[in-house]
Amino acid sequence: MIRLDKFLADMNVGTRSEVKKHIWQGQVKVDGVVVKNPEIKIDVHTQHVCYAGRDVVYRAFEYYMLNKPAGVISATTDSKEKTVVDLIETKMRKDLFPVGRLDKDTEGLLLITNDGELAHRLLSPKKHVDKVYYAKIDGSVNEEDQKLFAEGVLIGEGEVTKPARLEILSSDVVSEIQLTIQEGKFHQVKRMFEAVGKKVIYLKRLSMGTLKLDEGLALGEYRMLTQEELDKLC
Ligand code: URA
Repeated sequence: MIRLDKFLADMNVGTRSEVKKHIWQGQVKVDGVVVKNPEIKIDVHTQHVCYAGRDVVYRAFEYYMLNKPAGVISATTDSKEKTVVDLIETKMRKDLFPVGRLDKDTEGLLLITNDGELAHRLLSPKKHVDKVYYAKIDGSVNEEDQKLFAEGVLIGEGEVTKPARLEILSSDVVSEIQLTIQEGKFHQVKRMFEAVGKKVIYLKRLSMGTLKLDEGLALGEYRMLTQEELDKLC
């Protein structure tokens, strides 16, 4: 059960005070009847709320997969820069956040939700959830790097990474690799390559646990998770 004004404010109909005004003005119906009391409790599973002639369906949680483009920051709001949450134009909830940060110049899979428990399960190093990245590296990546990454490398400030799996897709002056890690330290992939004297020149996240980037999404595009994707993640 949830108060009518909170129901409408949660679903982005307006601020709490704007919503109260709409209710007092008779613009809101519950189960077909105009209701002028913002405090009445709504059963979100059985009752129908209608604002200005359109049905408002309550969503406690929203889950979006975004193919993050470079140039956008992984934050909820920012006074100057465009954020990943700004890109979700069809969102209903106001409390969405990105699950784990990708650097401004990193592309690829980003889950955007308001489900804090799921976010914790995916991000906690104790839960051992694989995060897979594709990268282009300035330098020839070799077996020694694979060995070092498998053992864990010192990435500065006393931080040592947990064992990571490095696959070499091609090795030349510029190499292509796929790296699987189970943690998300600040700039982790870039710092791991710096630790072995190499530089990441392009970085894209491909997957997080069972959730794989939908390659049908162009950079900057997003979609809701399917029920199957959600069931597997949870
Ligand atoms: N590691 C990085 O260095 N950057 C990212 O954006 C993600 C992982």
